[in-house]
Amino acid sequence: MPESPINRHSRVSSRVNNIPFSGIRRFFDLIASSDDIISLGVGEPDFITPWNIREAAIYSIERGHTHYTSNNGSLDLRREISKHLKNRTGNLYDPTTEILVTVGVSEGLDLAVRALTEIGDEVMVPEPSFVAYGPIVHMAGGSVIGISTSMENKFIPTITDLENNVTDKTRAILINNPNNPTGAVINREGLSKIAEFVIDNDLIVIADEIYDRLIYGNKDSFVHFASLPGMFERTVTLNGFSKSYAMTGWRIGYATGPEEIIAGMTKLHQYTMMSAPTVAQYAAKEALVNGENSLNEMLDAYSMRRRLLVNGLNNIGLDCVDPDGAFYAFPSIKSTGLSSESFAEKLLMEEQVAVVPGNVFGPSGEGFIRCCYAASVEDIKEAILRIGRFVERETNSS
Ligand SMILES: Cc1ncc(COP(=O)(O)O)c(C=O)c1O
Repeated sequence: MPESPINRHSRVSSRVNNIPFSGIRRFFDLIASSDDIISLGVGEPDFITPWNIREAAIYSIERGHTHYTSNNGSLDLRREISKHLKNRTGNLYDPTTEILVTVGVSEGLDLAVRALTEIGDEVMVPEPSFVAYGPIVHMAGGSVIGISTSMENKFIPTITDLENNVTDKTRAILINNPNNPTGAVINREGLSKIAEFVIDNDLIVIADEIYDRLIYGNKDSFVHFASLPGMFERTVTLNGFSKSYAMTGWRIGYATGPEEIIAGMTKLHQYTMMSAPTVAQYAAKEALVNGENSLNEMLDAYSMRRRLLVNGLNNIGLDCVDPDGAFYAFPSIKSTGLSSESFAEKLLMEEQVAVVPGNVFGPSGEGFIRCCYAASVEDIKEAILRIGRFVERETNSS
């Protein structure tokens, strides 16, 4: 994002004035204005947090656990995170020095970028990408080098594109796997090539793995970036509870990585958040200890909805790559001749279906829309009918 000149008539800093409001948020506001809207827009589970997790939180309040925890999060929760990661990734993170409990992955991302980058540094981000990455890097005084991906490559970044865009100012690469908005999952071979590129260019990796439990098909196809040879020392991983355990409103996540990086992030966290919400930490521990059955039930439901939505979109003429993870489909709307913004706005006005225009996720998202299938089967079926009607009208009129 280019810096614009300082505007002394504004009380808001030019750095903040330079970033836009979230493109998704605009659609939220439109959705809130009508009851008859079917929303495939918002990226959050339609499930309520499983009862045992809510109960653990209620019980923690009943017992009077209403104080700050340690800055890094309760040691109990950090130990549980360490155990969980050892089982899932093979990596052993020291709960006392290599784990920081954060206010969602959102806070973890902000801390990681601020702790790792100097003003003027570049951060590579394969896009389309989560809407917060650009503004977070910009607020840290850095700039994003967007690496375009394409439907032909299943939205996986190519090493050639990474090599062609790296400069001596590039400090880090931010990898979101599985990806929001495309649902793409990079396999072991693809990640290993990125790891080589990282070593060759002496980069640090910020791995946003918030969707790591939402994998369809072969569960072993997902690989934690930090578990690849040589990557433990170079990677800070961000994860959380919002998506896997339907806990978006609890605002809880965690960062893991080398002691030096976690210590840097902890300094920032100490002076801004102090500690993540205590009640949410109790809930998060219960999710890790007893949340597996609920997680698998939700995953089964998403898997079925994914088939329904992806088949439905392909049948009405919107080409869609099979998303291997997360809970988004990212179909092409190029056949209609509309831009992503016009498609999403007209669809909302004429058929009351909310989707997110692909361009809000970066330039290579133009010509696509994001549809979230963490919605009810009824809503998905009705949305496909309405989108089909809309696409037919648009294609016949062009
Ligand atoms: C890729 C990605 N990272 C981070 C977040 C933020 O998650 P949290 O609720 O843990 O702050 C989201 C939420 O949509 C996301 O899609």
